[in-house]
Amino acid sequence: MLNIAIFISGRGSNMEALLKAISDGRLSGITPKIVISDKKDAEGLSIAESFGVKTKFIDCTPYKTKLVGQAEKEVISLLKENNIDLLCLAGFLRMIKENLLKEYKNRIINIHPSLLPKYPGLCAQAQALEDKASVSGCTVHFVDEGMDTGNIIRQTEVEVRKTDTVQTLSSRILKAEHETYWRVLSDIALGKIKIGQSK
Ligand code: GRF
Repeated sequence: MLNIAIFISGRGSNMEALLKAISDGRLSGITPKIVISDKKDAEGLSIAESFGVKTKFIDCTPYKTKLVGQAEKEVISLLKENNIDLLCLAGFLRMIKENLLKEYKNRIINIHPSLLPKYPGLCAQAQALEDKASVSGCTVHFVDEGMDTGNIIRQTEVEVRKTDTVQTLSSRILKAEHETYWRVLSDIALGKIKIGQSK
């Protein structure tokens, strides 16, 4: 069994898709031990609780965009206490920095709404539309010190239609995200995708 921690900052629909896949038996070999949020009022927190998963708010002030300092220390001790093997970022809006990256080398993954390396960072769907791309999609990748630059694990393509708005494209990509993320976790649990060794 692999123990995972899911990190969110808001809506939590990717987290919910993972928890659903686990609870209805599509995804086995994975135990969701804890959901961690940097936003006290993240909608995803009550969804996690409805699945019986423990939640924890981590106050990251004064830092706005990264997980460092006292908050990072707190996170590392929470992860240790819960024997976490793998960290799954799901709409977590902070950069992961050196200490956590070192401690969990190749054991932090993220889902991003574009075919990386295209359109990293925020507003990936709007970037695809501005670029007049005919295809975009989503990527699950390992997290490194860069912004959405880690090794790519899996991508799913999604057609971009001439009539798409940011909203319609985002919702089509989101459906693909929900399908892609649990399948990656399933392959990790089956040993088909290798992650870093637990210390
Ligand atoms: C998703 O599009 C994810 O790819 C990106 O942030 C969004 C989070 O949505 N990193 P949700 O919170 O999972 O609904």
